Amino acid sequence: MRKKIIAGNWKMNNDISATISLITELKKGITENTKATVIVCPPFTSLETTQTLLKDSIIKFGAQNMYYEDSGAFTGEISPLMLKSVGCEYVILGHSERRTIFQESDSLINKKIKTAIKHELKPIFCIGETLEQREKGITFEVCERQVKNGLEGISESELSHLIIAYEPVWAIGTGKTATSEQAEEVHSFVRKLIEKMYSKNLAEKIVIQYGGSVKPENAKELLSQPNIDGALVGGACLKADSFLKIIDAAN
Ligand code: G3P
Repeated sequence: MRKKIIAGNWKMNNDISATISLITELKKGITENTKATVIVCPPFTSLETTQTLLKDSIIKFGAQNMYYEDSGAFTGEISPLMLKSVGCEYVILGHSERRTIFQESDSLINKKIKTAIKHELKPIFCIGETLEQREKGITFEVCERQVKNGLEGISESELSHLIIAYEPVWAIGTGKTATSEQAEEVHSFVRKLIEKMYSKNLAEKIVIQYGGSVKPENAKELLSQPNIDGALVGGACLKADSFLKIIDAAN
């Protein structure tokens, strides 16, 4: 039985004071009765504050990106060692905003995933098709290519903590959620692909989150699908009230 994992991707939102308010509110709402694993992914500038605020909390945290070198002349980049030094456990990699706005390729994402694993950071590896690709009927093909390229050269044992997040690009920040059938269809496809690439054992264990306009109103329905193991939430994670309702929907 896979434990549900609900992660909040804050994207480029929240300064230090907003970080303190949001995490303080979340801590009030998350108790031992919360069944899901809860992760917050604030911007880099809030990670140290987050570490302090979550010191004795069951809420986990991670970063939204990183580079694949440990240090050096890479102006503007953040290394896995820096993330470790502020206590990050997770890192989101391959988000569609990184792929499209910052032109990140499958091979760059693959290098980042390998480096994250080497440093014992747990990757939340995002995949998903654009609207154009869905309309052309190549959703499976696109997701398969992203999974195969992203995980190239990575062994089964190295994948024990990797999370896959299926985020159809057309559903991100648009208010247009994939229906639970559309999402389940892709999740089931990706799980079968992992079985083909690795083993049934890994396929049964790997957590596949759904992301794309997850809200309190649709969370229960999405999370009740057999192959949807959690959510990667954008907009709705910025308000404690709505994020807590999504977390409750996983109970
Ligand atoms: O990574 C989360 C994401 O891209 C979904 O964003 O705002 O549609 O929930 P949103």
